[in-house]
Amino acid sequence: MNPLLRMQAAGVAVVLEFAVGEMPVWRYWGAALAHTPLMDAWPATDLLRMAPGTLDRLAGVPLLACWGNGEPGAPALRAHRAGLDAVQDLRATGFVQTNPHSLVLHLSDEVAAIAVDVSLQLCADSGVLSLHSLLRNTGTADLTVDHQACASVALPPVLQELGSYHGQWSHEFQWTRQPVPMAGWQRDNRTGRSGHEAPPAVFVLARDAGDHQGEAVAAQLAWSGNHRFALDRAEDGRLCLQAGEWLAPGEVVLAPGATLQTPTLHLGWSDAGMNGASARMQQFTRSQVLQWAGGSMRPRPVHLNTWEAVYFNHQADVLFDLARAAAAVGVERFVLDDGWFPARKDDRAGLGDWWPDPAKYPEGLGPLIAHVHSLGMEFGLWVEPEMVNPDSELFRAHPDWALQVAGRALVLGRNQLVLDVARPEVGQYLFDKLHALLTAHPIAYLKWDMNRTFAQAVGLDGRVAMRSQITAWYALLRRLRTAHPQLEIETCASGGGRADLGALRYTQRLWTSDNNDAVSRVTIQSGAARLFPLELMGSHVGPAPAHATGRSQSMDFRCAVACFGHMGVEADVRQLPDTDRATLARWIALYKSLRGVLHTGQFHQGRTEDGLVWWLVQAADRAVLGVFTAQPPNYTYQPPLRLPSLAGTGVWQLRLLASAGQARARGDALDPWGDALRQADGVRVAGGELARMGLPVPVMQPESALLYSFSRVPGSEG
Ligand code: DGJ
Repeated sequence: MNPLLRMQAAGVAVVLEFAVGEMPVWRYWGAALAHTPLMDAWPATDLLRMAPGTLDRLAGVPLLACWGNGEPGAPALRAHRAGLDAVQDLRATGFVQTNPHSLVLHLSDEVAAIAVDVSLQLCADSGVLSLHSLLRNTGTADLTVDHQACASVALPPVLQELGSYHGQWSHEFQWTRQPVPMAGWQRDNRTGRSGHEAPPAVFVLARDAGDHQGEAVAAQLAWSGNHRFALDRAEDGRLCLQAGEWLAPGEVVLAPGATLQTPTLHLGWSDAGMNGASARMQQFTRSQVLQWAGGSMRPRPVHLNTWEAVYFNHQADVLFDLARAAAAVGVERFVLDDGWFPARKDDRAGLGDWWPDPAKYPEGLGPLIAHVHSLGMEFGLWVEPEMVNPDSELFRAHPDWALQVAGRALVLGRNQLVLDVARPEVGQYLFDKLHALLTAHPIAYLKWDMNRTFAQAVGLDGRVAMRSQITAWYALLRRLRTAHPQLEIETCASGGGRADLGALRYTQRLWTSDNNDAVSRVTIQSGAARLFPLELMGSHVGPAPAHATGRSQSMDFRCAVACFGHMGVEADVRQLPDTDRATLARWIALYKSLRGVLHTGQFHQGRTEDGLVWWLVQAADRAVLGVFTAQPPNYTYQPPLRLPSLAGTGVWQLRLLASAGQARARGDALDPWGDALRQADGVRVAGGELARMGLPVPVMQPESALLYSFSRVPGSEG
């Protein structure tokens, strides 16, 4: 019997079967098992049956599918030496397990002269499984790598549906669910960034899995560039998940002895539905990915972002007044968006020249920053360092610094080109310019934007330079944060175009979408919250009508939605009607009182047959619930809202803190239940009742919201 290599943490177990000279195979991944006599006694091959018309060998699902060993599934590695050594048959040479949570398996193929280490880590507190592989060229000639997945991941066989995202600018994180087709599924991203269209994440689901129940796996690749996700169904029917970078032809050539490490694939398994899988990933992100200044998150300050208030039209008196108006409603951080540097009267010029426009800021940024500070707010600044406008001093001085193909016309996107950030002199220039700004001024925060996809991304050596951009971007972020340890950075790419766990190692916020329409935001934030904790998701109260859609919602509704994230305001607060300004101030105060729960609790979401969407953030002794409608209800009876995660949580004091739109049962009719909920003490409810019978909610008109708070009654039993 071959040895079994086991990892177990946080209720999750992973078991691999290992033998020197064989490819390690998956035996199990799922709920922790107390006893495993079947696995202990029977090797995988004894449990398989040879199918007619196949090779005379049997194996389980390999850890790294190699086509050279007869594996029918998609190869996890494709590499060659000018067409030679392309048939790889990796076999195990050993493994290292230093603790119960981590495992490194050494594989090698002496004929093809390659070696691969596959690393697995099971996070002790979240149970998230993280995998990456490291390829080494052990030969004497260059090795061209066409594809390398983190690993091949055998999926629990009940998982036969796919939850994935699609979208575009202003319409990010749109969730789709479909059966995994007979032929499997694959999606490539070649845009140079993680993308509005296809963030590097999928869910694989049992047919009966829903938000709250059933088996589900959430998968996220910690990488901000091109990527490939595949649910590969081999001819024999086995379903395997693979993810890794999408490499352009010739992009990676390993010299003898050189290595290529994949990004890490993080996987959250759960039998508590999509919310359960998300919860594991969010816990993992909080404990393992984020790197807060000073080691821990401080309360997420309310932002005022100037973009939709003034766009490129920066005038000192307007900005000074805007800062005053923002501070008056409770804003804590004033972020000066695009438009502050030379020639930036629109998006046709200026990118690359990272110093203040002497026309708009004759005394530099100092006076505005001092004013913002005098109002008790932090100051943040927008930058887009990886880009250059041809109409800029930088481009005129260094036209060759932009990625381009010699002999071809430049391809512009939003009138800009991408700098070859991996070139040391370019990286140094960007560091120097940003370092100078951050040294000269107390700037707490950079909003780091990236507003075009890549085309003709070829470096000086004529090779495609896409992955090198991402590693250079990470290096630049690392360097800046080392030089300015208190600095916070937001990852933005025309909204949520670069939101991923790779970027979030170096950044502390993601700009979820340029769409501030609160109805759109319910869908966008529901999608994003499957992936990221709320404290990372920038969510702003925008103007009415919303600039992205032309639709208008009430200030209450806009605020209720924006509360569930890292709240901000992106509107000209000076111009708001007094009543709206008062409403905004009230909600900002409410957000401040709730953010301790919103940004540490466990997030659950659900939807009803009649189109209600609800978000519940649950901590040990407090919880916050938001209920939202976009469309008119189909029925006049609204059944009680079941909140399954409250089962067994004891007794709670429930209050209705705020509402938007219609929140009464029927016009002006008596509503004793609603009135009781609005009292300071609220109403006593048991978690079990809310989980099974449900929370009575009124029939809600479109664009209505209800915001409840729960405080646990001390000593109440689960
Ligand atoms: C795109 C971002 O998503 C917006 O929020 C804004 O910063 C603009 N770029 C500025 O050009």
